[in-house]
Amino acid sequence: MSEINIGLVGAGTIGGGVVKILQKQGDFFRHKLGLPLRLARIADLNTKLFAGLPVGDAICSAGADDILADPTIQIVIELVGGTTFAKKLVLAALAAGKHVVTANKALLAEHGPEIFETAERNGVSVYFEASVGGGMPAIKTIREAMVANDIRSVRTIINGTCNYILTKMQNDTLPFEEALRQAQQAGFAEADPTLDVGGGDTGHKVAILASLLFGGYVTYNALPIEGITSISAEDIAYARELGYRIKLLGIIKADEGSSALDVRVHPAMLPVQHILASVSNEYNAVLLEGDAVGQILLYGKGAGEMPTASAVVSDLVDIGRNIVNKAPRRIPMDYYHHNRAITLKPLAAINSRYYLRFTVVDKPKVLALIAAVLGDNAISIASVVQREMHAQDRVPVIIITHPACEADLQHAIARIEGMDFITSKTQIIRIEE
Ligand code: HSE
Repeated sequence: MSEINIGLVGAGTIGGGVVKILQKQGDFFRHKLGLPLRLARIADLNTKLFAGLPVGDAICSAGADDILADPTIQIVIELVGGTTFAKKLVLAALAAGKHVVTANKALLAEHGPEIFETAERNGVSVYFEASVGGGMPAIKTIREAMVANDIRSVRTIINGTCNYILTKMQNDTLPFEEALRQAQQAGFAEADPTLDVGGGDTGHKVAILASLLFGGYVTYNALPIEGITSISAEDIAYARELGYRIKLLGIIKADEGSSALDVRVHPAMLPVQHILASVSNEYNAVLLEGDAVGQILLYGKGAGEMPTASAVVSDLVDIGRNIVNKAPRRIPMDYYHHNRAITLKPLAAINSRYYLRFTVVDKPKVLALIAAVLGDNAISIASVVQREMHAQDRVPVIIITHPACEADLQHAIARIEGMDFITSKTQIIRIEE
């Protein structure tokens, strides 16, 4: 063998970054591996993209069939996104005995077992570092560096778009829509940005991490997922005043003595001194707690052309090393084990502190009634803020609770919302310490 041939499908933002890194670092990789990593073919429906990229002697085409049919291609990079064409492409590449590198978190989270079983059957690997955390090496860290640990808690900020929007709303008082537009322009957002702001993208990534960590397939569709669209400038201002920052978190917790895994995605208020509170803009972070190593914080750019391409190319080099050393599956995929069922803890069973923003008519007994219902449901109040609103008969009442059970909290809120002094839906944000 004189070279390792690669076929790239998808030459958009991330694909373009991959072409640039391979061109720039080509000599270095040749030296590292003893063989060149050669980008032999590139496919993209938008053939105009090729003109702006250093494609060298790669054969460029609109369709991917030539890549699948070319017996000299050993690695296929899938960067088209989505779960329809991408799934067909990945399965066909694996069936043809080609290794696959993908950044497609939706594909793995929704069809992981089929993809990894096909890879196993065909004796090839699927590498997916870029699927979680962009340039931040979360997958390699969990698969390799943390393998000695029992990891019972993972808290993540893993959607660059949401973190960018929340940062801009907080630091520059930018409206939500304008912050989203900037994130789209910078190439952070998904083709369908509702996946970002609705929490689905974080859900895909957290499902992949939980599957990797606990060795069973964590079903994305079963996860409780809330996005950031309900977070208002008012909540951001109150959070600041009370000493918190609002972040979209992906959480994985395995409670001692319980077999049920707590996996969820929702906005959370973090105390300003929390290590994750200072993660801003498109940066991502994963805070892991291992029983042997203690806390590990991964931090880096979680979205965008070059950071994500950096993760894709690291997978290419890993596969290249495996091929050169005739060890195609040097480090087991460990994505999930057949027959290991994972039970998810229902959201109703979690315990948390809560930020509650009621919008009420300013009249006698309102505060007393709210406090009574919370008390009847075993929810203890830690602090209350109510400001006089001149010339308005509606006021926000902010309550921070002590730890409470989610089921009790939801029951109490449903009762309070049935009362005639409530004028809008109550905002509930969990507080993560
Ligand atoms: N839309 C994703 C994000 C891209 O904003 O994080 C990286 O997966």
